[in-house]
Order: sequence, then C-alpha cells, then structure tokens
Amino acid sequence: MVLLTLLAACLLAQAPVQAPPTGEKLAPYYPTPETIVEKMLELGGLKAGEKLFDLGSGDGRIVIMAARKYHADATGVELDSDLVTGSSARLRQLGLQKSARIIYGDILKQNYSSANVITIYLLPDSNLKVRPVLEATVKKGTRIVAHDFEIGGWTPVNTVTIPDDGEGRSHTLFLYVR
Ligand SMILES: C[S@@+](CC[C@H](N)C(=O)[O-])C[C@H]1O[C@@H](n2cnc3c(N)ncnc32)[C@H](O)[C@@H]1O
Repeated sequence: MVLLTLLAACLLAQAPVQAPPTGEKLAPYYPTPETIVEKMLELGGLKAGEKLFDLGSGDGRIVIMAARKYHADATGVELDSDLVTGSSARLRQLGLQKSARIIYGDILKQNYSSANVITIYLLPDSNLKVRPVLEATVKKGTRIVAHDFEIGGWTPVNTVTIPDDGEGRSHTLFLYVR
C-alpha cells in the first residue's frame, strides 16, 4: 500500500502541468442579450447538425442556444479561465457535452475549417486581427455574423439593425459569406 502511494506520488510529480493559454485580450467580457443571440443565429441561417463557433464565448450563451434550440454542434473559444469553467459547467448541467464544448484558448490560434457559422462580438481593431485567421482557415460558404462592429475590409451581404433589444439598446448585425 505504502509502495503504491509512493508510486502514485512519483507519477503525479512527473505529470506535465498544462500552462494556461496565452493570447491578447481582444475585447472585454460584455454579453450579447439573449434576444440578440437568437437574431444572430437566425441571420447566420444556422441549421441542425451544422457546426457553429463563437469567437470569445463568454458565459457560453451563444454556444448553448446554438446547441439547445438549433440542434447545432457548437464550440466556443474563450481565454478567460473563469468564463471557461463557468460555461463548461453550464454545458454539463444542461447535458450538452456531446454537442457543445468550450476551448480554453486564443481565438487567433484556432482552425475554423469545419465551421458552417461563426459568431463574433469583438472590437473593430480585434475584428481586423481575426480576419486573416478566418481568411486562412474557413471553407467557402461559411457564414460569419458580427455583432455591432463590422469586419473591416469585408462587405456584408446583409446588415440588420434591431432598434431596441427590450432594454432600450440598439444592435447592428453584419452577415458575411466567404
Ligand atoms: C464582448 S464578449 C462576447 C461574449 C459572447 N460571445 C457574447 O456575445 O455574449 C468578448 C469575449 O471574448 C473573450 N476574448 C477576448 N480575447 C480573446 C482571445 N484572444 N481568445 C479567446 N477569447 C477572447 C473575452 O474574454 C470575452 O468573454
């Protein structure tokens, strides 16, 4: 028994400790109201079985709605460890582990080649940094929905303004198709 405990302690001591991901904070955490999340997914034309990525997934609300209501396969990417822990726990509580997950990582270091729909709510300068990553990885026909800030240099195929989200705030959504 003592020998086994010692062996386990040695193995644990040798186990690699995973370093937290590094990356530039591209926007503060500022959640999209649920009513607007739905408009984003509608605008993106998300269908059952399609793959959605939310870049900077915050509390996971876009990922959750995509998986629960639209029956999509949804992935969030998030750099903030507390938000990753909270949103991953929520996915487990809701029994969505098979169709939804949160990657603890940097938006700029992912590959989006499997995406059908991508949602993005970052700052204008950040959208410019994300753009080359999308240009390098997404497949033809991928729909990208940006909330409030355009992706500079791209022309949206559709722009929708929601004058009041129920709390007096207006929102603009931009749809791009690559
Ligand atoms: C404005 S919030 C949007 C949250 C969510 N997408 C929504 O619409 O409710 C932006 C999120 O991006 C995350 N973020 C910022 N820079 C990031 C990066 N380099 N990689 C991954 N996540 C990042 C922030 O932590 C924050 O949760």
